[in-house]
Amino acid sequence: MKNFNQYMLDKIKLRQQNFNLRELSFYNHLTDFASNDYLGIAKKYQTGSTGSRLISGNNLQIVALEKKFSNLTCFDASLFFNSGFQANVGLIPALADRNTTIFYDELIHASLRDGVRLSDAKNFPFKHNDLLHLSERLAKIEGKKIVVVEAVYSMDGDSPDLIELLKITKKHNASIIVDEAHSFGLVGENGLGLVNKLNLNKEILATIYPLGKAVGSSGCFVSGSNLMKDFLINFCRSFIYSTAPTKTVVKEVDIQLSELNSFNRRAEILSLKKYFLLNLRSDLNVVSGNESAIVSIFYSDTISLKKIEGLLFEKGLFVKAILHPTVKKGEERLRICIHAFNTINELDLLLKILNNKK
Ligand SMILES: Cc1ncc(COP(=O)(O)O)c(C=O)c1O
Repeated sequence: MKNFNQYMLDKIKLRQQNFNLRELSFYNHLTDFASNDYLGIAKKYQTGSTGSRLISGNNLQIVALEKKFSNLTCFDASLFFNSGFQANVGLIPALADRNTTIFYDELIHASLRDGVRLSDAKNFPFKHNDLLHLSERLAKIEGKKIVVVEAVYSMDGDSPDLIELLKITKKHNASIIVDEAHSFGLVGENGLGLVNKLNLNKEILATIYPLGKAVGSSGCFVSGSNLMKDFLINFCRSFIYSTAPTKTVVKEVDIQLSELNSFNRRAEILSLKKYFLLNLRSDLNVVSGNESAIVSIFYSDTISLKKIEGLLFEKGLFVKAILHPTVKKGEERLRICIHAFNTINELDLLLKILNNKK
């Protein structure tokens, strides 16, 4: 992480020397000749942020929320984005210049892939969760290196061995970015995700927390050091050149984050999943992880997969077939998401249909 800290520091220092360092300020007490609230509608309803955080969109509520989230997740700093997609397509190009090489798990989410594509960095995929393959690739490349992984993969529901990954990246002088979209709210005793569970907050370059999953809202925090936050405020284009989240979203996230610490709901999901897996036909090809809510069942041909999806809809069950190109050819599947609010009766109906059909 040392070389990225130096890289970020140098770029920030240059801005300071050139008197063009960007900082988040408050101007709400001044007569407004700067915001984009042309008709005064945001002013009337006290909702819209009226502009980028760097112009008129910064406010006390969003700053307080970022602080609250950092305290909750034990990071020095967090920056709030409108969505996970927006965070990922901005974060990666900001950090990875043409002297960087990015190594990414082949199953990372489209938003991370697009972030990699938008950057000037060279990039290489490695086989899913295959740390030996990653290690071989890292050994061949010099210079600044970033490894991009998810804490729980959205399609397979499994996780990387983050402790082993950290050992490997340290050996090869690489930094890690982790996306916690499907782990936040579920993994660890307090549901704070994998990085927190393993106490790796200081070891990860940037941790991404999209809030449209277990938090049930929208928006995304990118968490890490104060330096990383200052750097993103200056160099992350999707943050700088986009209207800040509305006050309504900020309030909603604040309220819904407080629901997170529900150990019972997490336990309920795991117990329902255990029941489901225990009663599912054993000849089906299934993947899942230890602490995720996702169970995928592979079907060898798309026609029978779509048939089962149709049958489930007919019986009132909403389960989606995931097809190529969202997943690789040959890995088409039913992706089942088990919720704390699903009942044993509902699972029994799902099991009855799945166990009867191949
Ligand atoms: C791993 C991962 N990262 C990022 C995103 C995008 O987050 P958002 O829906 O907030 O744009 C998703 C959404 O599915 C995701 O699965």
